[in-house]
Amino acid sequence: MAKALVIGAVGQIGSELTLALRKKYGGNNVVAATRKSEFPPEIAASGPCEYLDVADKAKMKLSMQRHGIDTIYQLAALLSATGEKNPDLAFEINLLGLKNTLDAARESGVKRVFWPSSIAAFGPTTPRENTPQRTVLEPSTMYGVTKVSGELLCQYYFLRYGLDIRSVRYPGLVSWKAEPGGGTTDYSVAIFYEAIRNKTYKCFVGPDTVLPMMYMPDAIRGTIELMEAPAEKISVRTSYNLAAMSFSARELAEEVARLVPDFSCTYEPDSRQKIADSWPKSIDDSQARRDWGWASKYDLRKMSEDMVSNLRLKLLGK
Ligand code: SER
Repeated sequence: MAKALVIGAVGQIGSELTLALRKKYGGNNVVAATRKSEFPPEIAASGPCEYLDVADKAKMKLSMQRHGIDTIYQLAALLSATGEKNPDLAFEINLLGLKNTLDAARESGVKRVFWPSSIAAFGPTTPRENTPQRTVLEPSTMYGVTKVSGELLCQYYFLRYGLDIRSVRYPGLVSWKAEPGGGTTDYSVAIFYEAIRNKTYKCFVGPDTVLPMMYMPDAIRGTIELMEAPAEKISVRTSYNLAAMSFSARELAEEVARLVPDFSCTYEPDSRQKIADSWPKSIDDSQARRDWGWASKYDLRKMSEDMVSNLRLKLLGK
């Protein structure tokens, strides 16, 4: 029976991915790991949980061997804005942590690894419209540096050691279950929370800022589909471009205002504006579509309607 380990299982992606994997493969077959001190009740109750730090390769190895792990999802990371506050820590967790995980994996007989890259792998010199799969990768953030380096490390471990590592460059991810922390695209989540709570939001990027985004259910489904695809279909061993929708902060605010009466949005760009301006506006994901059948399901309208109805229930109980 396949057994998976999710490292970073209480983060924005990990908390939803862990539950989706447990639903699909059985609770006991998916070990949730974090270095934080608490597991959310839904994760604590639905399968095995462990405290692991990506800095501790020996402990990760022990855990992989003890549970007979054959698949790893390595999601532990600092996001772009937090990474700029502490570049050393971002390098240690995002890149040295990835290397420790890959080493522990190949020394423990793990067969397959998932690791997320990001639109942050691109930079100011990358073509910003319909950004191609193969293009300039000169990011200006430490987060982006760890993503480009991580992509190359994943490809190297595949070529050198035959470790079947798969990766996608996620756009900004929008979700209502766990909030993101410290990312540049966080405004596209925070706007929904603030609209429901206070009917107003002060956006930290300007109204004309356009970025590629994706709703979490698409991201989770895409991740599982990529991991289930036959190895011969995977032609990209760095990381696949993945896209769903692109919108400006103003278009997002207009959509929220349509669903939340009396909502108003103001704009006060801060240091994250510069990061947003260095990333693509839209992404060409045709390689992922061709290779393993990727197709998004949510656009801005469908996502916003789902976000608002779920957050009304979560925050207001109605
Ligand atoms: N959502 C991430 C961030 O904003 C990008 O991968 O940092």
